[in-house]
Amino acid sequence: MESSLVLFVVLISLAIIHIVQAQDQLGFISLDCGLPASEPSRYKETYTGLWFSSDREFIQSGKTGRIKKNQEKKLLKPYTTLRYFPDGIRNCYNLTVEKGRKYLIRAYFFYENYDGLNINPKFDLYLGPNPWTTIDLQKQVNGARPEILHIPTSNSLQICLVKNGTTTPLISTLELRPMGNDSYNTESGSLSLFFSKYINRSASFLRYPNDVYDRIWDAYFQTEWTQISTALEVNNSNNYDPPKDALKSAAKPTNASAPLTIKWKSINPNDNYYVYRHFSEIQELQANETREFIMLWNGEVMSPDPIIPPKLGMTTIFSKSPRTCDGGECSFQLTRTKRSTLPPLLNAFELYSVIQFPQSETDERDGMFYVVAIKDIEATYGLSIISWQGDPCVPLRLMWEGLNCSNTDISTPPRITTLNLSSSGLTGTIAAAIQNLSKLERLDLSNNSLTGEVPEFLGNMKSLSVINLSGNNINGSIPQALQKKGLELSLEGNPRLCVSDSCIKPHKKKVLVPIVASVASAAIVIAVLILFLVLRKKRSTIVEGLHQSPRTSTVNVTFADKKSKRFTYSDLIKMTNNFQSVLGKGGFGMVYHGTVNGSEQVAVKVLSRSSTQGYKEFKAEVDLLLRVHHTNLVSLVGYCYEGDHLALIYEFLPNGDLKQHLSGKGGRSIINWSTRLRIALEAALGLEYLHIGCIPPMVHRDIKTANILLDENFKAKLADFGLSRSFQVGDKSQDSTVIAGTRGYLDPEYNHSGRLNEKSDVYSFGIVLLEMITNQPVINRASENSHITQWVGFKVNRGDIVEIMDPNLCKDYDSNSAWRALELAMSCANPSSSKRPFMSQVINDLKECIVCENSRISKNRGLESEEMNISFDTSVVPMAR
Ligand SMILES: *[C@@H]1O[C@H](CO)[C@@H](O)[C@H](O)[C@H]1NC(C)=O
Ligand SMILES: *[C@@H]1O[C@H](CO)[C@@H](O)[C@H](O)[C@H]1NC(C)=O
Ligand SMILES: *[C@@H]1O[C@H](CO)[C@@H](O)[C@H](O)[C@H]1NC(C)=O
Ligand SMILES: *[C@@H]1O[C@H](CO)[C@@H](O)[C@H](O)[C@H]1NC(C)=O
Ligand SMILES: *[C@@H]1O[C@H](CO)[C@@H](O)[C@H](O)[C@H]1NC(C)=O
Ligand SMILES: *[C@@H]1O[C@H](CO)[C@@H](O)[C@H](O)[C@H]1NC(C)=O
Ligand SMILES: *[C@@H]1O[C@H](CO)[C@@H](O)[C@H](O)[C@H]1NC(C)=O
Ligand SMILES: *[C@@H]1O[C@H](CO)[C@@H](O)[C@H](O)[C@H]1NC(C)=O
Ligand SMILES: *[C@@H]1O[C@H](CO)[C@@H](O)[C@H](O)[C@H]1NC(C)=O
Ligand SMILES: *[C@@H]1O[C@H](CO)[C@@H](O)[C@H](O)[C@H]1NC(C)=O
Repeated sequence: MESSLVLFVVLISLAIIHIVQAQDQLGFISLDCGLPASEPSRYKETYTGLWFSSDREFIQSGKTGRIKKNQEKKLLKPYTTLRYFPDGIRNCYNLTVEKGRKYLIRAYFFYENYDGLNINPKFDLYLGPNPWTTIDLQKQVNGARPEILHIPTSNSLQICLVKNGTTTPLISTLELRPMGNDSYNTESGSLSLFFSKYINRSASFLRYPNDVYDRIWDAYFQTEWTQISTALEVNNSNNYDPPKDALKSAAKPTNASAPLTIKWKSINPNDNYYVYRHFSEIQELQANETREFIMLWNGEVMSPDPIIPPKLGMTTIFSKSPRTCDGGECSFQLTRTKRSTLPPLLNAFELYSVIQFPQSETDERDGMFYVVAIKDIEATYGLSIISWQGDPCVPLRLMWEGLNCSNTDISTPPRITTLNLSSSGLTGTIAAAIQNLSKLERLDLSNNSLTGEVPEFLGNMKSLSVINLSGNNINGSIPQALQKKGLELSLEGNPRLCVSDSCIKPHKKKVLVPIVASVASAAIVIAVLILFLVLRKKRSTIVEGLHQSPRTSTVNVTFADKKSKRFTYSDLIKMTNNFQSVLGKGGFGMVYHGTVNGSEQVAVKVLSRSSTQGYKEFKAEVDLLLRVHHTNLVSLVGYCYEGDHLALIYEFLPNGDLKQHLSGKGGRSIINWSTRLRIALEAALGLEYLHIGCIPPMVHRDIKTANILLDENFKAKLADFGLSRSFQVGDKSQDSTVIAGTRGYLDPEYNHSGRLNEKSDVYSFGIVLLEMITNQPVINRASENSHITQWVGFKVNRGDIVEIMDPNLCKDYDSNSAWRALELAMSCANPSSSKRPFMSQVINDLKECIVCENSRISKNRGLESEEMNISFDTSVVPMAR
């Protein structure tokens, strides 16, 4: 029996499982990884009756994929979608579990060439900081299914896919099953499944609901055996509870005096094994008949006590200590005793090897939840760092960016000693959660835009010896607790900070304390209180005023103040050659062409004084663009914020915007159908990234053809994030008081209700797609069917695609792909947001349109080359004669 027996493709034809409706699945976690957001997030798998849910809530990274339609039929639904991880080294699922409880953890990995690259990936799987196994789909081409029995040491379990080499990790499903307490105990370590078999000549397998723990039992049989079966009920209850159906059949050696033998080869010669054998007497024995046998391990008697299988009951035999195999050759044998009249029998068996998980997870003792604290800090600052997954400190090579930890030896939990978030675009005050990193020695928050005061708690953190807060916008004074010896404190570059004690302290706390302390007369208290309230009111009105009119040089810039990205007004003059070359004009002001560093071309958007796009939009755009990076989003080179002058500096996209290319305005070329589809796909990818790739997710709110820009290779990039907003995933929508967007592209439902979610962008995207297909105006005042959706609706009823398609395309398109694109566009532009697809579905559909169109193009190419061959023949052959 080879290890390949473990391999296992879930063919539907093999699934013969009875469905029992009423079985509970208490504590089961069944994740269908990469389930598209367009499908219900929970469903019942029909063959097993298992409830699968989407993995979205349990992982923040990765992309969703789907295996090819023609491969799908072979696999059960949960295995047809997958999540893959092109970014980052380590990507982790974070699951909530019960600490100290034993779990069966199982994952499935099916590649099936989902990405068309035909490169089977190879990568590592980790449980928390410890390696579990390597997934090598180059060897296991039919898919891999590792399984482990493991006791988590905390209430959250990190299951991580770790890149090793260049291939992209992926996962199809992830399953967790809580197990009973008094089974599969080990002296140390966890149990990795080698195989579990029930003895039957059939070729099927058993799992839930036959198995209450959803272990998977494959049928197994050998030619030198004879099968015995029973139709009677078998009592399967002990600590292991193997499925009743697994016990109803058994094997005995056909030669009644021969032993019953199971052999296998160890992958790793030093592996330690635990074997569990399940026996039930399912044959009707006569009074003078006995069945009694002993067990041998690699030829040696394991226990002198003979085994007598209980009649229609069952017994499970296992050893308390692990066993090894000499030279990797392993076997166990059942041999009848002298007084036994019948040969031995075996109903089912399981084989596990031991995995040690020596690396302690980063400390969670003393009520000091390091990981919680650091996640809290991440949330406070809205950071989204791809390496911040799994354990913060270990393994060493995967330590989170910006941290350093004490790593003395693997058996002591590491602790976070350095937190370095310098130049990370942090805003707001210094996070309170920092005080929970009790072993912190070095804290570097320099060169951010932090405001507020230096918190007192920093002085009470005993280990802290280096604090760098320079280059922020911190105010107030330095707490007494921080003025101590041995503490290296850097505070320069905080213009509003009072360094000397004699400063006036404007904070309300500092005003109120003396009042309380002096026990002054009520009159004085009231007078001071009134004064305080008046002052406070005045202060806040000033602040509001400043926000409304940002063109005052005293405004405190609260958005990410990345120095490298900030330019002065004189830089602007230089880079645009005194605003010589105008690229365009928008509602906000002019856009100029410019050059930085002598060669890099940029577009400089200058906010004009009369602009309708105010400070808020400007700030929103800078904030967003500094945070998000995607190949289909226009990237920000920098910005200028100096007194009256606000400007945004973007990468320059020489091919203008999509609108120009549809209309042919500005001397722009008309683009063909296949390029249009590609551009639509790229824009969709950019939008999907905003919706699900960003944390928090964003809506663009102003998707239109004029905001889709094209680079020198006609690659599409979304621009103009001035109106973009984040929205909560929890309630999926957010009320917003000001409806914003462009007429014609604006989601009617959002316009009506003010409730904002990502489906509003989907609507606008649908309008863009309709424009790309038809080249009709979005709103045509001259026509009865004034909106583009009405125009298309009217034409669709006549059923002629040629009349709908942009005449500039000269009928050069696959009508199938055109119809598909049109259907997609109309479903995106559905008046009801719940009927619109999510962007991931849009992307899938666009890819299919592209496949249709490409197959037409390659067919045409084939024809062309045939024609060339013919002309070649006719001209050459006569000459040869
Ligand atoms: C990466 O793969 C190589 C070759 O299979 C292996 O030797 C190495 O240990 C792996 N690295 C890690 C960190 O697992
Ligand atoms: C199993 O162990 C867990 C953790 O030690 C405990 O909470 C639970 O009550 C135990 N269950 C049973 C049935 O003993
Ligand atoms: C075991 O084998 C018997 C007879 O070959 C068959 O009827 C039965 O369905 C099998 N049981 C399972 C669970 O495969
Ligand atoms: C099954 O066996 C267990 C112990 O072996 C016993 O406690 C239980 O009552 C039995 N159940 C039935 C239905 O006979
Ligand atoms: C049956 O098994 C015994 C013991 O292994 C062996 O000596 C004998 O030759 C076998 N008989 C046959 C017919 O194979
Ligand atoms: C057991 O008894 C039956 C008759 O009841 C007889 O046919 C059979 O040979 C006996 N078997 C043995 C092993 O003695
Ligand atoms: C994992 O999830 C738990 C519970 O939701 C949370 O407390 C913990 O911080 C998360 N851990 C990581 C590393 O995200
Ligand atoms: C991290 O800390 C270790 C000592 O614990 C030190 O040797 C190492 O240089 C530090 N690394 C960085 C990047 O600061
Ligand atoms: C923090 O990281 C920056 C570079 O990213 C480095 O210059 C600085 O020295 C680090 N601070 C500390 C306290 O290690
Ligand atoms: C620090 O940790 C404790 C639990 O150990 C928690 O109650 C508290 O909220 C944490 N403080 C912060 C600021 O995160």
